[in-house]
Amino acid sequence: MPFDFDHCPDRRSTESFKWKLFNEDVLPMWVADMDFLAPPAVMEALHRRVDHGIFGYAMESEELKLVIVDRMHRLYNWQINPEDLVFTPGVVAGFNLAAQMFSGSSQEILIQTPVYPPFLRAPSCAGLKRVDSPLVHNQDGSYSIDTTGFTKQVSPSTAMFILCNPHNPVGRVFTGEELEEMAQACLSNGTVICSDEIHCDFIFSGHKHIPIASLSPEIAQNAITLMAPSKTFNIAGLDFAFAIIQNPELRSRFRNSCRGLTGGTNMMGQIAAKAAFEKGEEWLKECIAYLESNRDYLVKFIQSELPALKTSCPEATYLAWIDCRGLGLDEPPSDFFLREGKVALNAGEEFGHGGEGFVRLNFGCPRSFLEDGLNRMARAIKG
Ligand SMILES: Cc1ncc(COP(=O)(O)O)c(C=O)c1O
Repeated sequence: MPFDFDHCPDRRSTESFKWKLFNEDVLPMWVADMDFLAPPAVMEALHRRVDHGIFGYAMESEELKLVIVDRMHRLYNWQINPEDLVFTPGVVAGFNLAAQMFSGSSQEILIQTPVYPPFLRAPSCAGLKRVDSPLVHNQDGSYSIDTTGFTKQVSPSTAMFILCNPHNPVGRVFTGEELEEMAQACLSNGTVICSDEIHCDFIFSGHKHIPIASLSPEIAQNAITLMAPSKTFNIAGLDFAFAIIQNPELRSRFRNSCRGLTGGTNMMGQIAAKAAFEKGEEWLKECIAYLESNRDYLVKFIQSELPALKTSCPEATYLAWIDCRGLGLDEPPSDFFLREGKVALNAGEEFGHGGEGFVRLNFGCPRSFLEDGLNRMARAIKG
């Protein structure tokens, strides 16, 4: 069944954060949700549930857990058990809960910058010190891990390493070797790995996602993996994500760190997740192909029409990380493009060390929006 990714219903008339934050003349290409309808199977399942008419407290669905267990096996040959799963309202809540496991200690949390802004705040939210391990920005614009630096930065006082794989914003899908090196450094120092894999379904040709915990049982015992259907099926507003924690002691500490502040599970989020995982694969396949062709269009456009900008070719995600330092601006480029081009992009500065002079552009949208956004950027530069 063909799905329509070329059209998007009006979102300004909804409560959309993406579309409501800026004036009507601004094209929003910032926050990471897509301008695509969710898979029909998801909408049908939600309609059916609404028609039931009673919306009392929900429990963690055992059927959904079995669907997730099956998905991990099918996609990654990773054998997990239903009891390894803990449902959370989101992935950000998940890594903050994980950080809370160590609050009150004098330990550190390690992250790799530039990175999705809530990573930068998670250590201080838990009263812990943050240590940044900058990614290496290569000549060709791609990013890699400074493994020597990383190995030196992990120490017995590193309580946890929060990994972002695939990486937002740089678009890397880390290889088995890269993951293994990071995991071994963590294992040797007793550092828990909290792996945010929310973008793991958007992997482009030539790359393969490997959940870090699937590398070995030893690593699995030391890891908290966070995933969600929210980015994948464009249902982020339904507040459902899950943690996979195979070590029972770690799992119980993670559950305890909720401290009564988050409880229950979003019923609609679970309904949508189950329908998406069970019946959304065709939609997802087409969505990835659409995103890949948007990515190729964007990379070519930047190379041919915007030579002062540079971007590497994202291996995953629908986010492009664009180096605007060649413009020689004396203000953040996101401010410049908003004012001069009426296009809203994420400010690179918010992604921590290495983000200055960059913007992040969301290409999870109909091609016509992408063309419009890139033309707005071109006009701003030419003007
Ligand atoms: C790497 C990463 N983690 C987490 C999130 C948000 O997750 P959630 O909405 O489930 O809290 C995002 C959203 O952009 C993201 O890019």
